[in-house]
Amino acid sequence: MVLENKLGLTDSLELSKAEEKISKEKAKRLFEENLLSDKPAGTYETLAFIHGFLFEDIYDFAGKLRLVDLAKGGFRFAPLVYLKASLKTINSMPQDTFDHIIEKYVELNIAHPFREGNGRSMRLWLDHLLKNEISQVIDWSQVDKEDYLLAMERSPVRDIEIKYILRKALTDDIDNRELYMKGVDHSYDYEGYRLYRTEEL
Ligand SMILES: Nc1ncnc2c1ncn2[C@@H]1O[C@H](COP(=O)(O)OP(=O)(O)OP(=O)(O)O)[C@@H](O)[C@H]1O
Ligand SMILES: [Mg+2]
Repeated sequence: MVLENKLGLTDSLELSKAEEKISKEKAKRLFEENLLSDKPAGTYETLAFIHGFLFEDIYDFAGKLRLVDLAKGGFRFAPLVYLKASLKTINSMPQDTFDHIIEKYVELNIAHPFREGNGRSMRLWLDHLLKNEISQVIDWSQVDKEDYLLAMERSPVRDIEIKYILRKALTDDIDNRELYMKGVDHSYDYEGYRLYRTEEL
């Protein structure tokens, strides 16, 4: 099943190629035109802005909360009924240190606000947050994709691996567009979601 999209594509490979190209052009603009400079770091609203900007030409749901319950690899993301409350709690989490920021990132991933494209929009959100709070960013070229995904899958239970992996890749080189663009690579996780019904809980 291919996600309904504004491009009218019905082939999932074609859609993922077009999506990757368009969202990368958009990410480049976010960077070049400094579009996040007036946005508060670390809020759901800023994440929704990023997601909306990256995907507005592709999906109707760009920048909007998902309307279905999602699971992947045996993990159920926040049930819809708790999603708004959970985002409110996440907004108020501290973000003064690297550890606090990653804890917030992990919680946001558990919330998984969007139908698709959570990973890419969240990595840009994280970049913005780290830059603002600790004047460092992740050099995504130093992050092994498989290690990252395994650590993210593990993170709802234990966040020590993801903290370790991301801390190792911290850099002061915060204005480097190439490093930033690496975070938008869509090759971290190609798996589709399983939809579940809240009654299954
Ligand atoms: N089983 C899981 N448990 C927890 N988090 C997961 C799991 N599988 C994937 N994730 C997280 O979800 C992200 C993928 O979300 P999604 O597919 O919505 O975004 P994307 O932008 O299309 O993907 P990508 O992160 O591959 O660029 C991964 O990057 C990872 O952080
Ligand atoms: Mg995806």
